[in-house]
Amino acid sequence: MTIPARLEEKLAPALKAALGDALPEGFAPAVAVSQDLRFGDYQCNAAMVLAKQARMNPRALAQAVIDAMGDMPICTMEIAGPGFLNFRLKPEFFASCASAMLQDDRLGVPAAAEPKTIVIDFSAPNVAKPMHVGHIRSTIIGDALARIARFMGHNVITDNHIGDWGTQFGMILWGWKNILNEQALADNPIEELLRVYKEVNALCKEKPELLPVCKAELVKLQSGDAENLAIWERCVAVSKSGLEKIYDQLDIHFDYWLGESAYNDALAPLVDEMIASGLARESEGAICVFSDGTLKPQDDPFLVQEKGEWKPIPCIVRKADGGFLYATTDLATLDFRTKVWQADAIWYVVGAPQAQHFRQIFDVERMRGITGDFRHVAFGSILGSDRRPFKTRSGDTVSLQDVLDEAIERAGKVIDEKSPDMPAEEREAVSRAVGIGAVKFAELSQNRMTDYVFDWDKMLALQGDTAPYLQNSYVRVRSIFRKVEGDAALPESLTLTEDAEIHLARMLVRFGEIVPSVLDDCRPNVLAGYLFDLARAFHSFYEACPVLRSEGAVRASRLALCELTSRVLKQGMALLGIHMPDRM
Ligand code: ARG
Repeated sequence: MTIPARLEEKLAPALKAALGDALPEGFAPAVAVSQDLRFGDYQCNAAMVLAKQARMNPRALAQAVIDAMGDMPICTMEIAGPGFLNFRLKPEFFASCASAMLQDDRLGVPAAAEPKTIVIDFSAPNVAKPMHVGHIRSTIIGDALARIARFMGHNVITDNHIGDWGTQFGMILWGWKNILNEQALADNPIEELLRVYKEVNALCKEKPELLPVCKAELVKLQSGDAENLAIWERCVAVSKSGLEKIYDQLDIHFDYWLGESAYNDALAPLVDEMIASGLARESEGAICVFSDGTLKPQDDPFLVQEKGEWKPIPCIVRKADGGFLYATTDLATLDFRTKVWQADAIWYVVGAPQAQHFRQIFDVERMRGITGDFRHVAFGSILGSDRRPFKTRSGDTVSLQDVLDEAIERAGKVIDEKSPDMPAEEREAVSRAVGIGAVKFAELSQNRMTDYVFDWDKMLALQGDTAPYLQNSYVRVRSIFRKVEGDAALPESLTLTEDAEIHLARMLVRFGEIVPSVLDDCRPNVLAGYLFDLARAFHSFYEACPVLRSEGAVRASRLALCELTSRVLKQGMALLGIHMPDRM
């Protein structure tokens, strides 16, 4: 049970004792983490809330509650300000939790009480277009969520829903037949596909009469033309192998790659079913789903306010020309995941501009009686130093491959400066861990909804909330153990006396609460921020409390704190998909 839950369990009867019949039926006190340690570790405002209703003095009520709770083995209690209840955990409690953590592979993180089947839909780039730096957000956030949910004991299915059936294939097919360079395709297929796509795109702008020709190629593909299907298959295969290379470098892997094309056969029957059930109807030749009027207008994704009036915005599932849309595919995909995979939850890690799309999809499913924990895990943009969308000097979108290559190269320079004598082979592995780690941590330490500036110097700095800082902290802790002479046996119980020791133990014990909380709102930055605070607590401890020069029980306790710090840092970073080198 979490510490807040344990406190709440004691608080409920104490409130009853203090208030008697004045306690509203079903009232559940909530204990929250204090933002400032001066107010203890946890706080509760129940006395203030209830005093108002019971017309009592809130501080007097708070005192009555404290008296009713009696002696608490885990914490001391005090009243602050107008009637807050503050709980300050005792050093002996931290000590006993920390000793328990030493024996626990899960480092105090409880497994989920009810494991769920969670599908995480992330990365999902479009075929024959480069995976650009914007996709990095989805890829890195999605992978971290998958790792954390798995660690919590959920049955996680990761699915790369690549865009392998979009309208871009019209242009690619025409380009393949007319302007493809076979040699270039053999040398660097992804680049050649991209060149073809870009060139046809430009040509179409110059000569609009080319557009219907491309469109005809797309229609041929969609109706099963053998030649076009063969070209399409090669494009998808080439793109996939290029993507795999990037994912390998990132150490990110998927259970499935069920792209849009996997659902082609399901689209027509799905739309027919929706027409038959009356859910979808014809409007201007297209088949659409409109609001069913259940939701309040402001919550209804099929309505938009214009000049004070609510106007319908339907979800189109079949165009007037018979073609299906992104929405149709997503409905079919959601059906498959809930029916075949029995998903309880589906989390889509996709940029904020697609919010309306997902609100409509989830609401159509509600109308069809398909429910679950469906979430659009949205995120903002990555900006350049000019605070505009991140671009190369020539104005192109930045390719993810280039970003990763540059990250590793720049990390190499950091290592050269720090450890000029590191052997070449180790240097390469460490540069990789530091460079890729820096890019991942820069992403994961941000609130996902904020736009953030991509800044090489900042993300590779050895100070501040960066991967290199955390990796370096870990290396420091490990180096203590390399210097331990003789016995470094860990103690049965810990003795904590110095403030810095107590604070480090407090931070370590919080790990078990932080990890599960990340999934509440899919916020890996909560874990990243915690790990940074933990590393800082370690550094303060290390400055204030000699470890190797201390003796006896004090030394053993301090070594235990170091051991736990290194385990939590390593496990925490692993949950973010970041590798910790032993040296750097
Ligand atoms: N391919 C889409 C894009 O790049 C993202 C797909 C996200 N997943 C989904 N099920 N719609 O914008």
